[in-house]
Amino acid sequence: MRFDILTLFPDMMAAVLDTSMLKIARDKGCAEYRIHDIRDFTKGVHRKADDRPFGGGPGMVLKPEPIFECLESFLSPEELNSIPLLAMSPQGERYNQTMAKDLSKEIRIVILCGHYEGFDQRIFDGLPLKEVSIGDYVLTQGELPALVLIDSLVRLRPGVLGDAESAARESFENGLLDHPHYTRPVEFRGMTVPEVLRSGNHAKIEAWRLEQARLCTQERRPDLLEPPPES
Ligand code: ADE
Repeated sequence: MRFDILTLFPDMMAAVLDTSMLKIARDKGCAEYRIHDIRDFTKGVHRKADDRPFGGGPGMVLKPEPIFECLESFLSPEELNSIPLLAMSPQGERYNQTMAKDLSKEIRIVILCGHYEGFDQRIFDGLPLKEVSIGDYVLTQGELPALVLIDSLVRLRPGVLGDAESAARESFENGLLDHPHYTRPVEFRGMTVPEVLRSGNHAKIEAWRLEQARLCTQERRPDLLEPPPES
């Protein structure tokens, strides 16, 4: 899976992509990250990628020219219209595990990280971009959301996670939150590991985990148990 990331902070992206699971996935050949510095496509010595908003108001707006030129430097017109182009933005569709599963089947994804107060509207009007939000809160820039997205996709690619972790993922895909986990020691400060987990009875262990996952979901996220609204 190849990611092309348009960013104003290439070092920030590289630092995280070069760590832990994301690095291992790249080293195994399961993921490829290409970082494009938007400022390389600006004009003038100051490498300004943003400017003040027309009509006044606070903050700065990402200019259209460097975004179009950056995309056109590595995508053909056909690719521009066929490869998913995502823009990280709090105005976007709310990201969830269902979207992650769908997107993880793509072989290429392009991600535009916004910054400052937003994007010039012509970026959305002139490009087939889909805006994606990672939640109802506002971050200062799109790099962290882009990394959240990439992490959630790369871990779904075949061969990236070991068997144990893949199984854990399955349970979330049931639409339930995860069950509690325990490791050694059996007793810690008066708190003991539930008997059933030490019983060796795999059917009982599975039933206990499912029950715990249901209880946890019911208590913390009852909305996940509701049927989807009819369309
Ligand atoms: N940029 C700033 N806030 C964001 C959010 N919540 N999701 C995606 N991109 C963002």
